[in-house]
Amino acid sequence: MMSIIKIILGFICCLSFAMGVKASEREISVIPKPHSVVIQSGEFQFNANTLIVLHDHSEAYQKIATALSDRFIKSAGFSLKIKSSPDTVYTRNAIIFKNKAGMVDEAYQLEVNTDCITVFSSSPKGAFYALQTIYQLLPPQIFGQKQKNVKWSVPCVKIDDKPQFSYRGMHLDVCLHFFTVDEIKRYLDLMAMHKLNVFHWHLTEDQGWRIEIKKYPRLTEFGSIRKETVIGTHKSGFYDGTPYGGFYTQEEIKEIVNYAADRFITIIPEIEMPGHALAAIACYPHLSCGLEEKYEVATRWGIFPQVFCPKAETFEFLEDVLTEVMELFPSKYIHIGGDECPKSSWKKCRHCQNLIKILGLKDEFELQSFFIQRIEKFINEKGRQIIGWDEILQGGLAPNATVMSWLGEEGGIKAAQQHHDVIMCPHTKYYLDYYQADPNKELLAMGHLVTLQEVYDYSPVPEVLSDEEKVYIKGIQGCVWTEYMPNFKRVEYMAYPRACAISETAWTQEKNKNWKDFTSRLEKHFERLDQMGVNYCKTFNDVQIFTHKDGPYSNIVTMKVDAPDAIIHYTIDGTTPGIHSPVYSRPFVINKSVLIRATAFKKNKQIGKETQSKFN
Ligand code: ACM
Ligand code: ZN
Repeated sequence: MMSIIKIILGFICCLSFAMGVKASEREISVIPKPHSVVIQSGEFQFNANTLIVLHDHSEAYQKIATALSDRFIKSAGFSLKIKSSPDTVYTRNAIIFKNKAGMVDEAYQLEVNTDCITVFSSSPKGAFYALQTIYQLLPPQIFGQKQKNVKWSVPCVKIDDKPQFSYRGMHLDVCLHFFTVDEIKRYLDLMAMHKLNVFHWHLTEDQGWRIEIKKYPRLTEFGSIRKETVIGTHKSGFYDGTPYGGFYTQEEIKEIVNYAADRFITIIPEIEMPGHALAAIACYPHLSCGLEEKYEVATRWGIFPQVFCPKAETFEFLEDVLTEVMELFPSKYIHIGGDECPKSSWKKCRHCQNLIKILGLKDEFELQSFFIQRIEKFINEKGRQIIGWDEILQGGLAPNATVMSWLGEEGGIKAAQQHHDVIMCPHTKYYLDYYQADPNKELLAMGHLVTLQEVYDYSPVPEVLSDEEKVYIKGIQGCVWTEYMPNFKRVEYMAYPRACAISETAWTQEKNKNWKDFTSRLEKHFERLDQMGVNYCKTFNDVQIFTHKDGPYSNIVTMKVDAPDAIIHYTIDGTTPGIHSPVYSRPFVINKSVLIRATAFKKNKQIGKETQSKFN
């Protein structure tokens, strides 16, 4: 009887395959999640005769087509011929890029049927994002660096997609640690894959100045090098005794700006002022309040009292620097820092105190506001706008400034209420230098734990804002401060997969976000990151154990695992957890000294590493 059932089931299976199988939701595992996906039957298969047809053969479209063909050469071993012929009608074995007027900026429509793929967009940006989706509809090997013999097919589907936010950013600090041109390009590639479109490049700091400025060569000759680096946390007192440095030449910066532009990524450079200026002051001490004999590039992390003094020479220096910066970076926005500027030097400085009197200012906070407003005026005159961290609110916001809200949401809320644009990146959610897994098992990181789910669940538009004010929240950004990231592998580890979660909040409408659905797509997405050799954090299948103090003699234990549909088995008797051990289903109390051991399973197979947590 069983064998007859098997034969019938097999027959149904074959029949449905012959009729064209519908791809399951699971196969459409695009991150960030598209706005609307309608799955259809069948698939489109790429081969060496597939054409790329461009109805608009401008350079931007040519570059998109070439990128697609190059990708196939690398991973499939064949190229796709590019045809720029709006007059000839192609309906078979082609991927056709068509212009469609009136679509939202960056939006695209994608229609995959068995004969051809059609992409509609009103600009190359939309076409580029459609291409990122197509890559994710292909087998993950399309992201590989070696030729693979797989079926290069895409499920038939209709996708209508557009971004939630216009600013979808990732920040990288290259000052605390330095990364090469190729590493920056890889960072940009990963951003592009996730439809992120702003790279906030943190280029100057107390611990190193990283951008060549022709008029002030000492900035890179001396300011890019610190004599040694602290070991451990900023207050350990131990140093490695090894000089550390690096900087980007202007030619390298131009190369990176162009590389980003080809991926529709705008680079916003950050030149820190008035604080975090010690590397510059070490090169040009007259820019400080002159309270010390000697200034050195910082060798440990933190905040330093040696800040720019608001005097004519300083503004001349900063305007010269910003002039060169604006020649290199075509972005509308220039980031001027503004964060963490201690006021102790200004309090002791005769010039600063005199200036406060002359200008009729209340205090040093208003002096900071004067500083920022003066710089804003200069940047606005050049047709650009400033962005600054929360602290530019101190003493009054510059008239046209955009606020990057990192201290929490308060600064962003205040700025939106004053009708200023805001980028949300609260450190408690979007600082990717914070731990993402058990701090007792991870290498040293900053702050506290910000799990993948906490990052994913963050909703960046505060409910306290009115509908009119909410419009000022222009987007979000993941921030990667690199105190504890001495190499690029570590940057990848800390940023991914949390940056995948950020990309979904940036691109996908809040109402379409769903943690469980995200995790099931992420499982597939890991195969793509594996193909690219990304060193992402791999604790997705591991159980996380948390204890919550409930009273003097009672603790509540909770457990979770990110992998969808996983079952947690645990023990508290010292034995190895297996499929016959108790299943974790809800929080429980412990009030004695025990070792909790837990492992996640799927279909009775272990999926992650065992987690242990000792409770005393
Ligand atoms: C910051 O983290 N100091 C912006
Ligand atoms: Zn001063």
